[in-house]
Amino acid sequence: MTEKKAKMTIDKQYKVAEVDPRIYGSFVEHLGRAVYEGIYEPGHPEADKAGFRKDVIKLVKELKVPFIRYPGGNFVSGYNWEDGVGPVEKRPTRLDLAWGTTEPNLIGTNEFMDWAKLVGAEVNMAVNLGTRGIDAARNLVEYCNHPSGSYYSDLRKSHGYKEPHNIKTWCLGNEMDGPWQIGHKTAAEYGRLAAETAKVMKWTDPSIELVACGSSGSAIPTFIDWETTVLDHTYEHVEYISLHSYYGNQENDLSNYLAKSLDMDHFIKTVVAVCDYMKAKKRSKKTIHLSYDEWNVWYHSNEQDKEIERWSKAPHLLEDIYNFEDALLVGCMLITMLKHADRVKIACLAQLVNVIAPIMTDKGGEAWCQTIFYPFMHASIYGRGTVLQSVVSSPKYDSKDFTDVPYLESVSVFNEEAEELTVFAVNRATDSSLDLEADMRSFAGYTVKEHIVLEHDDVKGTNQENRNNVVPHSCGDAHVCDGILKSRLPKLSWNVMRLKKS
Ligand code: AHR
Repeated sequence: MTEKKAKMTIDKQYKVAEVDPRIYGSFVEHLGRAVYEGIYEPGHPEADKAGFRKDVIKLVKELKVPFIRYPGGNFVSGYNWEDGVGPVEKRPTRLDLAWGTTEPNLIGTNEFMDWAKLVGAEVNMAVNLGTRGIDAARNLVEYCNHPSGSYYSDLRKSHGYKEPHNIKTWCLGNEMDGPWQIGHKTAAEYGRLAAETAKVMKWTDPSIELVACGSSGSAIPTFIDWETTVLDHTYEHVEYISLHSYYGNQENDLSNYLAKSLDMDHFIKTVVAVCDYMKAKKRSKKTIHLSYDEWNVWYHSNEQDKEIERWSKAPHLLEDIYNFEDALLVGCMLITMLKHADRVKIACLAQLVNVIAPIMTDKGGEAWCQTIFYPFMHASIYGRGTVLQSVVSSPKYDSKDFTDVPYLESVSVFNEEAEELTVFAVNRATDSSLDLEADMRSFAGYTVKEHIVLEHDDVKGTNQENRNNVVPHSCGDAHVCDGILKSRLPKLSWNVMRLKKS
């Protein structure tokens, strides 16, 4: 075991960008037990009058999620939004071809808007560009956002929702580049449809913002050509392009696994380059921003999902049980997106409850927090303000797929108003702690208020049996001495060093 040392300079003048709070967004899809038995379980001791679980609402609020994508995901590409509004007893039960399950349509647009209000989140609504198109999309915008005096706005009112929902951000379909998608399209087919749909949705409500589908992952062969063609068609009609990434430790190679956030970093830089190339090509003044509207670890449940009976209702699908090493990678991904806060304005942890989620529920039982709950919660609570461009010098390693992986992954966020600086840091070293020294030059008078650490001696440890197995503590040793923030970051640890002007 060799001693490792890293140095950093943090200066309040070196700014990347304000953090858009929507970077702490999440995602609820009609999939598995995300909605049914997740957010909604009538008859549960914690259910409110509408059937929403109050224990789940409490945990979602602890995550301070400001923005939630809905209703899919792959599901949306076969969804008729009209099935989910109006009297519940008249709603049809449908086969969901995306996941091979049965959708009872007990929860739809209005109920979900009610639930989002309870958790204090804005909704990011996706429209179906798989089996449907312009007409269904513009009607949904009219239903949700038009005040009254038209067929769909009056229909909403007749369903008991007098005031419009005023949904601001909309997704133009989902993963339309993927052959698994209902209504999969070529980039040219999707680009044309997205542009025409966007135009008409904005004619219905000019205040909305739109997300065009980017690639469903950086490994898909059409990546880059897809973005280029789609943006060629949609550039003047949309504000964002989406990115999706899921990682896993299939090879059980921890050093390589923890380096996978470097792939995310490369993905972001490449999409930014394509957006700016299109900006130049179109001589446009407008900058397209990034919506990382699906990201997480996803692989634990792949085998068990093959056993799910077709057409079952609310099956245990995509129920990854996360371990400690997953929490470290999630921490690295959060840091990576924050470092690109100038372009990544939206990000949605996929997903929120039961389905590849930080929050799990037992039917009729308790709601509990997975390991990944904690880094997400810390970033969401303390990572608000301005991302600073810190200069980092860290020892590095090479792994199977990556070279020059820094042991230290870190970002600093300054909340000027509250006079608080938060340094998020992951030590990727599997064999030793990392001595960090950060020159705090422009932060005279700042002292460490708290140093939160998530560490564990079993990288495969989960919270499934013992809910308090992988939980953070506040016993980190960070302190400021002569203007230098000093800390020994334990091996394999997620750290949140919170400083405040005293
Ligand atoms: O989040 C699970 C699924 O992953 C989504 O439905 C889809 O968009 C992606 O492939």
